[in-house]
Amino acid sequence: MEERNETLLRVEHLCQYFKMGAGRELKAVDDVSFDIKKGEVFGLVGESGCGKTTTGRSIIKLYDITSGNVYFKGQRICAGIRSYKDAIRAARASYREKVAALNKQMKEELEQGADRAQAEALNKKLRAEAEEEFRNAVIENRRLISSAKHDQKYCDKDHAAKVVASIKEEMASALAACSSDEERKKVKKDYKARLKIASHERIVNRIQMIFQDPIASLNPRMTVRDIIAEGLIIHGIKDKEFIDEKVYNILEKVGLVREHAGRYPHEFSGGQRQRIGIARAVIMEPELIIADEPVSALDVSIQAQVINLLNDLRSDLGITVLFIAHDLSVVKYFSDRIGVMYFGKMVELAPSDELFAHPLHPYTKSLLSAIPLPDPHYEKQRKRITYNPLAEHDYSVDGPTMREITPGHFIYCNDAEFAKYQGELGL
Ligand SMILES: Nc1ncnc2c1ncn2[C@@H]1O[C@H](COP(=O)(O)OP(=O)(O)OP(=O)(O)O)[C@@H](O)[C@H]1O
Ligand SMILES: [Mg+2]
Repeated sequence: MEERNETLLRVEHLCQYFKMGAGRELKAVDDVSFDIKKGEVFGLVGESGCGKTTTGRSIIKLYDITSGNVYFKGQRICAGIRSYKDAIRAARASYREKVAALNKQMKEELEQGADRAQAEALNKKLRAEAEEEFRNAVIENRRLISSAKHDQKYCDKDHAAKVVASIKEEMASALAACSSDEERKKVKKDYKARLKIASHERIVNRIQMIFQDPIASLNPRMTVRDIIAEGLIIHGIKDKEFIDEKVYNILEKVGLVREHAGRYPHEFSGGQRQRIGIARAVIMEPELIIADEPVSALDVSIQAQVINLLNDLRSDLGITVLFIAHDLSVVKYFSDRIGVMYFGKMVELAPSDELFAHPLHPYTKSLLSAIPLPDPHYEKQRKRITYNPLAEHDYSVDGPTMREITPGHFIYCNDAEFAKYQGELGL
C-alpha cells in the first residue's frame, strides 16, 4: 500500500471534441483532469453520454485528443494541440488590439498638440514591445505544439528504447556472471528473444481496456483461445505452447476452465463473456485496466461475481483500475476515489467515503438520491433529487473552475458556490 503515492496515470485538461458537420463540435470530454495512483481503483461515474467511455478511449489512444495531456508512468502518451493553437490566436488578437490602442492614443495626443517626434518614438517603442511579446508567445506555443506532436507519435518508440536499454543492462550483468562460453551462449539466446519482443513494446499495451459491450467486443468467428491470445501474437510472441499455457492460466484466474478455450463467444453467458474480456485484458499483464461499465449488462448476482473477480485481480496482481459506471452504487465499495462527470465535465472528485459522507455538487446529490437501499422505511421516504443545471447555477458573470475544498475533495464551482459549499461543510 505504500506504493499508493506513485502516480500511475495523470490526465491533464483532457478535451475530446467530435466534429458534427457544419463547423459544429460536440465537446464529449471538456477539460477533465484527474490522476490515478498505483494500486488504486478510481471510479468514474456519470449518466449516459457524459463522456466516460470517450475518456477511457482517449487514454488508450483510440482518438487523437483535441487538447490536454495524458501521462502514464511519467511519460506523456497523449498530447493535444488545440490549446496551443488557441493561445497563438489569442496572442495575435491581443497584439492587434494593443497596436490599435497605441495608435489611437498617439492620434489623440497629437490632436492635443503633443510633440510629433516624441509621440511617434514612444509609439514605436511600445509597439516593438508588444510585437516582441507576441513573437515570444508564438515561438513558445509552436515549441509546445511540436513537442506534443513528437510525444504523441513517438511515445512507443521512446518507451521501447527505454525497455531495451534496461534489458541490455540486465543482460550485461547476467553475461558477466557466466563462467563458461556455453552458459554465455544460452544467456545471449534468452535475452535475444526478450529484446526482440521489447523492441515492439508499446506503452499503451501497459493499459488495457475491458469494453462496455461484452457481445460486440468479442469477434464471433474467433475461438476464446484466439481472442485471448491475440494481443500476445500481435506483440510478436510465436511460441504456441507458451501461449496455450498462458491462456489456460488466465482462463482459470478469471473463473473459467481450460476446456473453454476451443469454444466460440456465442456459447457463453453474459457473465462468462465479460470474463473472457477480462482475460483478454489481463493476459497482457497491464499495469492499468480501464473497465468500462463491465457489469452494467449483467444480472445483479453476476455483477457481484465480476466485481469480486476484478477485486481479486487487483490484490493478486497489483493492477490499478479505472472503473467506469453510470451509477454510484456499483462503485461505492470498490473505488478508493470517485470522479463524477456531467456533460463532458468533471464536476466533483473525492475519496469514496468523503463523497458519500459530504456530497456537495447538486448532480452528485442527485446521483446519490437514486441509490435504493434494502430498507423499507428509508425507501418509503427516499426522494429522488433531480438535477437541473439551469436552475442550480448562475455562471453568467462568474464562471466555474475546479477547486479543492478540503484536501483531495474537488468541486466544479464559482466563488459564490464555493463559499456556499464551505458553509455546508462548516468550514
Ligand atoms: N466517435 C464518436 N463520434 C462522435 N460522437 C461521439 C463519438 N463517440 C462518442 N460520441 C458522443 O460523445 C458523447 C459521450 O459519449 P460516451 O460514449 O463517452 O458516453 P458515456 O458516458 O460512455 O455513456 P454511456 O454510459 O451510455 O456508455 C455522446 O454524446 C456521444 O454521442
Ligand atoms: Mg460508455
